[in-house]
Amino acid sequence: MSELTAHIADLRKSYERAELNEEASQADPLLQFDQWLKEAIAGEVPEPNAMTLATVAGNGRPSTRIVLVKGYDERGIVWYTNYDSRKGRELAANSFAALQFHWVELERVVRIEGVVEKVSAEESDAYFHSRPLDSRIGAWASPQSEVISGRSVLVTNAAKYGAKFLLQPPRPPHWGGYRLKPDNWQFWQGRRSRLHDRLRYTLQADAEWLRERLAP
Ligand SMILES: Cc1cc2nc3c(=O)[nH]c(=O)nc-3n(C[C@H](O)[C@H](O)[C@H](O)COP(=O)(O)O)c2cc1C
Repeated sequence: MSELTAHIADLRKSYERAELNEEASQADPLLQFDQWLKEAIAGEVPEPNAMTLATVAGNGRPSTRIVLVKGYDERGIVWYTNYDSRKGRELAANSFAALQFHWVELERVVRIEGVVEKVSAEESDAYFHSRPLDSRIGAWASPQSEVISGRSVLVTNAAKYGAKFLLQPPRPPHWGGYRLKPDNWQFWQGRRSRLHDRLRYTLQADAEWLRERLAP
């Protein structure tokens, strides 16, 4: 083992900031998520709305990347992206996906699983037009997840679409939102001696949430 990997093997931390229990947690996981996200924002956690999105290709091979949550309500969790990207192609082949937030400073993780669908064109339009101009041009300029010959491709595309659309770029047809409708949530709170708290919420046939504690 190299000196560096020996050092990594010794890295460990005791989690002691808070607890998560059946009495104090919300019966509705969306409300629990809302509370924790608000606490992450109030606690000035860096990029509190950044989440890992896992998708699975048609051949069963998983992949992950980070995206930003841009909305959530009882219908699900929303983010925006390029529909032709790798994640877009994988979601077209297999609509099951998983999301994960890790708020390091709060010693908290939220895991969410469910089925994904595209948001309506009106919803994507509304969000697209709320974005800064350079982001709207960027959605046209970047063939996300495709191989390009160099950075100059992006610079040239941005100049081309900037000149074409001036201040009014329309939403590209290949760009928009996805919504994951959760059927399974997990909330993890780090605790002392690796005896962490984990609460899982599973959607039942009667549309009620079953809350269970999992061993850490
Ligand atoms: C903090 C952070 C936020 C990001 N947010 C988004 C996002 O909201 N939408 C998006 O398409 N890519 C976002 N990205 C880039 C993705 O992680 C990823 O590189 C890109 O979507 C291509 O992924 P794919 O090839 O797996 O489809 C973000 C990256 C970081 C580091």
